[in-house]
Amino acid sequence: MSEKFYITTPIYYPSDKLHIGHAYATVNTDAIARFNRLLGKDVWFLTGADEHGQKIQRKAEEKGVTPQEYVDEVVAGIQELWKLMNISNDDFIRTTQKRHSDAVMKIFKQLYDKGDIYKDEYEGLYCTPCESFWLERQLKDGCCPDCGRKVEKAKEESYFLRTSKYADRLIKYIEEHPDFIEPASRAKEMMTNFLKPGLEDLCISRTSFYWGIPVDFDPNHVIYVWLDALSNYITALGYGSDDDSMYQKLWPADLHVVGKEIIRFHTIYWPIILMALDLPMPKKIFGHGWLTIDGGKMSKSKGNVVDPKLLVDRYGVDAIRYFLLREVQFGGDGEFTNEALLNRINFDLANDLGNLVSRTASMIEKYFDGIIPSMGEKTDFDQELEESFSQLKVDVTKLMDKYKINEALTEIFRVISVCNKYIDLTEPWVLAKDKSKKNILGNVMYHLAESLRIISIYLTPFLPDTAVEIRRQLGIGEEMNMFADVDFGKEIMGAKVTKGEALFPRIDIPKELEDLEKLKPASAQKKEEEPKTVNRESKPEITIDDFAKLDLRLGKVLECVPVEKSDKLYKLQVKIGSETRQVVSGIKKFLSPDDIIGKTVVVVYNLKPVKLRGEMSCGMILAASNDDDTSLSLITTDREMEDGLGVR
Ligand code: MSP
Repeated sequence: MSEKFYITTPIYYPSDKLHIGHAYATVNTDAIARFNRLLGKDVWFLTGADEHGQKIQRKAEEKGVTPQEYVDEVVAGIQELWKLMNISNDDFIRTTQKRHSDAVMKIFKQLYDKGDIYKDEYEGLYCTPCESFWLERQLKDGCCPDCGRKVEKAKEESYFLRTSKYADRLIKYIEEHPDFIEPASRAKEMMTNFLKPGLEDLCISRTSFYWGIPVDFDPNHVIYVWLDALSNYITALGYGSDDDSMYQKLWPADLHVVGKEIIRFHTIYWPIILMALDLPMPKKIFGHGWLTIDGGKMSKSKGNVVDPKLLVDRYGVDAIRYFLLREVQFGGDGEFTNEALLNRINFDLANDLGNLVSRTASMIEKYFDGIIPSMGEKTDFDQELEESFSQLKVDVTKLMDKYKINEALTEIFRVISVCNKYIDLTEPWVLAKDKSKKNILGNVMYHLAESLRIISIYLTPFLPDTAVEIRRQLGIGEEMNMFADVDFGKEIMGAKVTKGEALFPRIDIPKELEDLEKLKPASAQKKEEEPKTVNRESKPEITIDDFAKLDLRLGKVLECVPVEKSDKLYKLQVKIGSETRQVVSGIKKFLSPDDIIGKTVVVVYNLKPVKLRGEMSCGMILAASNDDDTSLSLITTDREMEDGLGVR
């Protein structure tokens, strides 16, 4: 029996339209699910919709429909989008389904009977859009630290989950299971910012709105969002129902993939709910960053949301999937721009991959009537090609094991370039002119076709339609297409090649950029701005020797916590090679710890240490800011570089 692999995305709030950021999260999870299927695992991939709460009730009221009517329509849109993006989920849970609400009511009662849920009064600062209560010290400039909007004072009778009872057990669990939360920087952040300072009990019911699962023994209360939402991962498997065979088979989850703003709920409250229910912990929670626009999260109010459907309609689903998987390191934040998308399509997909497929298919049609020949007389270049495939297997296995999806794709496309280079080096058009070289020519064609067969396997999790199309053009159908078949040298000779249309038509980028600009809502279109010149007063000239006095080094930020009683300062722990230093930095106004932890920054290493607000600061990190001090950006590297390296 094959190994099971249960993977989930968060369940999405039914907002009017999901944007490219949501598609980013789901496509990356889909690639991991598909990769595990390719390995031969018995994968169960769950996604769904999180349909309760005050916000939804308000939206439905605004539209003059019932909340159920509202969510039915919006959720149908989400499901359509996932179909369009070729998401291979096995189930879609809706929190308004009876299978979910019945089980959640039972969970609530069970925890109440056990004494882990109690009734009290809640007074706090509430962010309605995020449906989160915050403590004063967690606010950012007096506003919600997640969405930046105003919070309101709220007070009501509520049920609470006794999270404080489990905090020590959870701390111990996280410390003993270093792979439980990934990337590791996220685990540190949870420990330092939430667990170590002391957990507040979690408010889990509300009386001020009705759209939620009722507490059956106290019907004034509806179960408030996180207990309801998080339980989806087990209610979807039939936990608490008459038939829990799926739960028995699949739980614990192998991987919960979640965005960075909801890591807290998944790594603190969800494990505590499971502990209280005496259920096993999920094996891993992976927190990814955001796909940003103009450096920030996209939002309808800013008018900068990018519609994935529009892009898929213009460029095809695999082009968009490729961009979402390749452009950004899964784990950190990354910027979406139309230019970057179009460049990826033209250079990687149309030029590198598309050309390789069309050149190979055309040459086999032209020189061998479309029949893939046998491996014949060797050329001097075969070995390098074959070896790059052996190396690729090692690299992709290692990288996908760490969910380094973009790096795995980088390696795959590196080998695609090796194949293109193989064509240039072997010069099949020259071999074709000499009848005595037919056997060598056949060998070259075999190598190219076999390379494409293997590449199609590697592409399956990422560009599923393209992988099938490559196999169709090669005439090898659905055989030999598991990860176990990626070794070079399979018997594909005799298959009938049929050349198809270009896989990815080239785009006229300047024209296309103009067209895309016109499609944006008026509020988000680029205005012709007066060119801004920054006239900065020059400092006196220095010599290269003056500059050489500076010891600049790369450092990786491991921890970031506010300095007590300071609006401006953070205390950072920065790893610089073999040492970790404390640096105090005045960047709190601009960035949240999330934005900083894990970043590789430039540190002035030989700056004389000083004490700031009672904290030692050994060094300084570099950042750029505008003249009115309203925006700031850390100076980081444009690719992953080891900390400790010198900056010149
Ligand atoms: N309903 C909650 C999750 C409950 S899970 C028990 C929720 N929903 S959401 O619709 O707001 O977000 C769903 C996922 O989409 C989150 O993981 C979130 O991080 C992700 N993303 C939303 N915008 C995103 C980007 N711009 N970039 C990357 N991921 C994004 O939170």
